[in-house]
Amino acid sequence: MTKPPLTLYLAAPRGFCAGVDRAIKIVEMALQKWGAPVYVRHEIVHNKYVVDSLRDKGAVFVEELDECPDDRPVIFSAHGVPKAVPAEAAKREMIYVDATCPLVSKVHIEAARHHENGLQMIMIGHEGHPETIGTMGQLPEGEVLLVETVADVAKVDARDPERLAFVTQTTLSVDDTIDIVAALHARFPKIVGPHKEDICYATTNRQEAVKAMAPKCDAMLVVGAPNSSNSRRLVEVGSKAGCAYSQLVQRAPDIDWRALDGIASIGITAGASAPEELINEVIDAFRDRYEVTVEMVETAVENVEFKVPRVLRVPA
Ligand code: F3S
Repeated sequence: MTKPPLTLYLAAPRGFCAGVDRAIKIVEMALQKWGAPVYVRHEIVHNKYVVDSLRDKGAVFVEELDECPDDRPVIFSAHGVPKAVPAEAAKREMIYVDATCPLVSKVHIEAARHHENGLQMIMIGHEGHPETIGTMGQLPEGEVLLVETVADVAKVDARDPERLAFVTQTTLSVDDTIDIVAALHARFPKIVGPHKEDICYATTNRQEAVKAMAPKCDAMLVVGAPNSSNSRRLVEVGSKAGCAYSQLVQRAPDIDWRALDGIASIGITAGASAPEELINEVIDAFRDRYEVTVEMVETAVENVEFKVPRVLRVPA
């Protein structure tokens, strides 16, 4: 049977960012340096395939520090942790390595600086996401007010409306955040914050590529996990940019083929924690059913790299 033709647009950049790449390297190098088991607090990055393969190598994933023994190394995930977590590890004299993405650490430092200057903080982020918990946890309880939407801005109960600062989660929708920041500036003209927001280069670049790709595609697939903030934002950005159908899939078997019935083009991208193997698996699933022509939609070239912490660069 002849296969129907399909144009497959492939977004670039897509998939792994420098922070995810570094976090995975940290776990692998810790396993080499100290042997198994190495404990990891929270999924090192939000991807089951990555977590399962590290588990196979000897990593043990836990949610809280009290699930780790004192005498084994523990790694904190790329999303960042509240200040109390490394403090507790130090108190217990544990070996710990912080895999917090340096771009998240930068936001932690900003928040602490504003707090030292006596400003009350507002964080634009998603409630319950580990990055939001980690950033809010840099300051004493109650010092950071969370804002998720433009509507939330009207509800902010500031101690002093003239003494406010804001930071953002790094993996938000760029366009939605512009609106929230504008609402903050409108209500609190003296609020201080980053030049635009704290959304990282990888989130911005992946969203830009989707915006360029979406109008050409009959449907779009984002390879990523349901708990990955930046992957979910890519689905929303694809829909807003004009793609009629966008779906988040973890792996090829998740593809809803019925929903794709009759398409002549598909756009594929991946969240920052999805490895290229999974993207190739999805592309291969299309090759099995269609006569695929791949066209790259490249909007940026990335060459960012972050060093692993020094403790892993020196022999045991
Ligand atoms: Fe860091 Fe952005 Fe990736 S904050 S972990 S470079 S998605």
